[in-house]
Amino acid sequence: EEDERTRRIEGALEILGDDVVVLGHNYQRREIVEHADVVGDSYGLSREAAAADAEYVIFGGVTFMAESADIITDDDQTVILPSMEASCPMAGMAEALQVDAAWEEITAAAPDAEIVPITYMNSYADLKAFCASQGGLVCTSSNAGEAFEWALERGDKVLFLPDKHLGENTAHRLGMADETVTWDPWDPEGKDAEEVAESDIVLWNGYCQVHERFSEAHVERVREAYPDANVVVHPECRREVVEAADVVGSTATIRETVANADPGETWAIGTEIHLAEHLQRWYPEVEVVPLCGDACMDCNAMRQIDPNYLAWVLEELVAGRERNVIEVAPEEKELAELALDRMLEL
Ligand code: 13P
Ligand code: SF4
Repeated sequence: EEDERTRRIEGALEILGDDVVVLGHNYQRREIVEHADVVGDSYGLSREAAAADAEYVIFGGVTFMAESADIITDDDQTVILPSMEASCPMAGMAEALQVDAAWEEITAAAPDAEIVPITYMNSYADLKAFCASQGGLVCTSSNAGEAFEWALERGDKVLFLPDKHLGENTAHRLGMADETVTWDPWDPEGKDAEEVAESDIVLWNGYCQVHERFSEAHVERVREAYPDANVVVHPECRREVVEAADVVGSTATIRETVANADPGETWAIGTEIHLAEHLQRWYPEVEVVPLCGDACMDCNAMRQIDPNYLAWVLEELVAGRERNVIEVAPEEKELAELALDRMLEL
């Protein structure tokens, strides 16, 4: 069955030729990344989308990535997401309407302060547009530190959303951990106006359910089982996990770290399980072990991109039909693009 599907995908790609480019996030299944022209992290793929001149960008990833690709590419380019169900739960934790309401409360808590909102790439276009409208920008896991510095040069405080862990890890990197407070929009007790007034960094209480599962115990266990192991984790992991690790970085950094390891070294990978599996395949001379042991998590949003859907959207294009087009509303596009451009210029 896999052979048949591979044949269908390759056949359609051959007919479509330069008209399509397939981008694959590092968390996509093997059957998707093998067909991708470029495999990378959120930041790298957004740069690839900006540089692509194919008429169709097929995005192996989740909705917010496809939206960003649509914003960055030219108007005559079309972005296709093989499954419309591939939505990152973390992005859903900061809905623009909800943030709008919280913004009123947060700015009222510190009326004399200039607050600059930063949204993680893992967010919908309307939130990116909101951030730009308030003088803010977008960042990814590979440039959060620079984005915080950019914002703090222009304002007094940062509101970072949705990922509190990336926010906290970034605050630590900048030596600002003590000036950080978490704002929980779902908990009346979690919104402390006085603390907001006193803090330089306000973190929205969102998180990634894949990365939040890693604990310090995972790191301890892997170090016991493999005394020479090095540990690399994603900054969406909790603070305690990042502190216990040897290297922290985006999915591209995780890949580079393993690519540059000496043969025979052991690396434990603290991120979505598909990337750990790809690394085992790509770098067989390195011993790659998943940090999560035998209780590994895959991302249920990334998993929605089934190779059968990839075959389907490609065959439909061959037949002249555009399926699953991701198109950001024109009224949001301009501002969301400004938020992304500010990031790309960092
Ligand atoms: P990066 O590829 O930017 O590290 O992002 C990880 C992630 O969770 C994307 O959903
Ligand atoms: Fe969202 Fe986490 Fe999945 Fe990334 S791994 S798409 S942050 S749920």
